[in-house]
Amino acid sequence: MTKPTILLTYPIHAEVIRKELAPRARVRIARSPAALRREIAHADGLITRVFDPVDEALLSRASRLKAVGNFAVGLDNIDLTACARRGIRVVNTPDVLTRATAELTLTLLLAAARRVPEGEALCRSGRFKGWQPDLLLGQQLQGRRAVLVGKGRIGTETARLFQALGLTITWITRKDSENTIRAKLARAQILSFHCPLTPDTRHWLNHSRLQCLPADAIVLNTTRGAVIDEKALISALKSHRIFAAGLDVFEREPRIPAALRRLPNVVLLPHLGSATAEAREAMARLVIRGVLAILGGKRPWNEVNP
Ligand code: DGY
Repeated sequence: MTKPTILLTYPIHAEVIRKELAPRARVRIARSPAALRREIAHADGLITRVFDPVDEALLSRASRLKAVGNFAVGLDNIDLTACARRGIRVVNTPDVLTRATAELTLTLLLAAARRVPEGEALCRSGRFKGWQPDLLLGQQLQGRRAVLVGKGRIGTETARLFQALGLTITWITRKDSENTIRAKLARAQILSFHCPLTPDTRHWLNHSRLQCLPADAIVLNTTRGAVIDEKALISALKSHRIFAAGLDVFEREPRIPAALRRLPNVVLLPHLGSATAEAREAMARLVIRGVLAILGGKRPWNEVNP
C-alpha cells in the first residue's frame, strides 16, 4: 500500500516526526505560504501551526486532502465549516498543553503583581542603588478576587493554581447578561482570559468594559490577543486606569505595538503558553497520531466536531 503524503508547515518535533510519522507517511515540509499553496495539491494530510490559515483559498487547491491536524488547541486559524463541507476532518491538541498554559498564566500573574519586568530592567541597567523601603512595591495576591473568562480545561486548571495562592474565583460565562458581566468586572482584581477566539469573543474586553475594572486590576491573556481591544488596553495601562497586564498573545501577532512595548506595567511574552518540552512533545504525538488515525479510517478522540 502506498504511504500517504503528510505536509507540515514546520518540522514541529524532529524526534517524534522521525519515530512516529516518517515510518508511516511521506513527510513533506512547506516552509513558506507559497510552498504550502504549491504542495497542498499532493497532500493527504496537513499539519499546521497556530497562525497558518486553513481557509477556502487553501482548501480549493487541496484536492486529495482528508485530514488537518492543528499543532495547537485553538482553532481560530481553521475554517472548520469549509473543511467539513469538503469532507476534511480536523484534529487539534487539547489536554496535553493544559498544565503548561495554566502555569504560564500563573507566571504572568506573579510577574505582573510583583513588577518583575521593572525590577529586572533596573538590575540589568546598573542603576540599582540598594534596598529601599518603597522600591517597586507590588501586590500581595492572597485573598484577591480573580475573575476568569472561559471555563474549559485551561481555565479550570488555572483556577486550581490560583486557588492554591489563596485567590477567590468567579467565572464569567456566556449566559451572563451585560449587567452581570459589568458587576463581576467591578470586583475583578485579576481578570484572566481562557476562552477561544470566536466572532463573539473578539474584543470582548473593550474600552467600555475596561472602565468597569477596579484600579488595582491585573489583566492576563494567554489565549488569543484579539479577545482584548489592544488599543483600549494600552490606554488603560498608560493612564494607570488599571494596575498591570500580563500578555502572552497579541492582536496582530507577531507585531507588538511600540506603545505596548514602552509601558513598564505590562509583562510581555512571545506566545509561550504551551512552550514546555513536555507539552510540545506530547502535542506532536497527539497531532501526528490524530492525522494518521483519520487517514487510516479511524476516529481519534481529539477530532473536532464542527
Ligand atoms: C494553542 O494551542 O492554541 C496555543 O496558542 C499554542 O500552543
